[in-house]
Amino acid sequence: MIKDRIAILDFGSQYTQLIARRIRELGVYSEIFSYKIAPEELLRWGARGVVLSGGPESVFGVGSPVMDSRILDLGLPVLGICYGLHLLVHLRGGRVRPSGRREYGYGEFIQDGESLLFSGLPSQFGVWNSHGDRVEELPAGFRRIGFTKDEPNAAIAWEQERLYGVQFHPEVSHTELGKEIFANFLFRICGVRPTWTLANFVEETLETIRREVGTKKVLMALSGGVDSSVCALLLHRAIGSQLCCVFVDTGLLRKGEKELVERVFSQDLGIRLRVVDAGARFLRRLRGVADPEKKRKIIGRTFISVFREVAREVGNVGFLAQGTLYPDVIESGKVPHPAHVIKSHHNVGGLPQKMGFRLLEPLRNLFKDEVRQLGKELGLPPSLLYRHPFPGPGLAVRCLAPVTPSNLETLRQADAVLLEEMERSGWMERVWQAFAVLLPVRAVGVMGDQRSYGLTVAIRVVQSQDGMTADWVDLPKELLNRIAQRIVAEVPEISRVTYDITSKPPGTIEWQ
Ligand code: XMP
Repeated sequence: MIKDRIAILDFGSQYTQLIARRIRELGVYSEIFSYKIAPEELLRWGARGVVLSGGPESVFGVGSPVMDSRILDLGLPVLGICYGLHLLVHLRGGRVRPSGRREYGYGEFIQDGESLLFSGLPSQFGVWNSHGDRVEELPAGFRRIGFTKDEPNAAIAWEQERLYGVQFHPEVSHTELGKEIFANFLFRICGVRPTWTLANFVEETLETIRREVGTKKVLMALSGGVDSSVCALLLHRAIGSQLCCVFVDTGLLRKGEKELVERVFSQDLGIRLRVVDAGARFLRRLRGVADPEKKRKIIGRTFISVFREVAREVGNVGFLAQGTLYPDVIESGKVPHPAHVIKSHHNVGGLPQKMGFRLLEPLRNLFKDEVRQLGKELGLPPSLLYRHPFPGPGLAVRCLAPVTPSNLETLRQADAVLLEEMERSGWMERVWQAFAVLLPVRAVGVMGDQRSYGLTVAIRVVQSQDGMTADWVDLPKELLNRIAQRIVAEVPEISRVTYDITSKPPGTIEWQ
């Protein structure tokens, strides 16, 4: 087990994940826990230090989150950030004052005296604030270690007790020396070492998977996306032929998708893969359905029924594996209590329970970039490693025209032209997603001397950090031109190409 580990107590800040990221970037393992965690649990988990996150609440609010104050008596170093600072002050008998309005933005932070937390940092640096309350009176034992123009107590410490608090957010990149502040907290105050490496993770995880799985078989739905691919590789390394991967051809895949997955997994990596051709079944159930939510439900249900049949055929299946990542776990509101690598409470669509399986989620404590790095180390080829996200319901949510085999083929062709041009021009790796959408709109055109009256395709190319917000990409005119000309020339059913210039918000990335 990795001994040097830091616990983050979550009080609901939008930045809590960033705290975990910053700490892991410094090579120290960290996990996020509910603020409700008991002190004994923290000790059992092996925390060597505790960070209290920010939060949207005021410590004065009715029902605001308050942790067990005995956590402050464990002798562990504590760093309170924003709300975490207020809580620290509040619980230790100091006074926090509501300022009645939230303050956002930059401030110049000035150090006051020496402190380990800011050791080696300049006496003045820029910080990012976002808070409503402020510290009015310090609890006994504490002293101020820094201030800003508006905040007389922007940072406080009780060095002997190793209790620290900052009003600003060191985890956001706008705080200039945030990383150095965390490094001081980790290495100088908590005394941990940077032992979190993927090699350690792999070693530990393989062990856990083998122990948990025993002689049972593990079934896993492989989508060809990064997460499920890396998950499959890890499991394959742990349990070899006890892993059975299933790739369902829903008839809603992109051009060459099935062939790529078969080649990489079956041929190159030697992983046991079952390919189920269920396209006809999916398309039959989708016939005449235009409503996006209905489409998703039908696809989800059909997927489950196909999967169940495969499970029955395979036999002796005890586990269902999923490539759930840490942000999914956090965002689903299921911040774990001291987590094992494998948990069974988080699932999608109730699938495992209905089937009597246990859930295996070996990536559930990793962030996306860590998963990519892991995939690289496990030998996943770049063609899969750096793929754009692709929605589970596939082309069904990109085919606004009736979901028929011929419309899907039209969409597939237009999409393939787009992706080829994006690859060729080097734009593919510079954007978050690029895809075509088939619209149920006919438009008049001229092809040679002939009048055409074909369908319309919309091109969507967006940039994004995490898919939560996105901007449309201003592709060069020549590239757009080439894409449009080739689509109309090479896909006979299409007579018009449009470019989607809606950002998210107010739009979403997908059209359905
Ligand atoms: P939206 O359209 O909500 O999409 O802006 C955000 C990101 O999520 C992907 N997406 C999905 N992924 N199942 C998935 O696995 C879905 O039903 C689904 N819908 C959207 C989308 O491609 C984008 O990256």
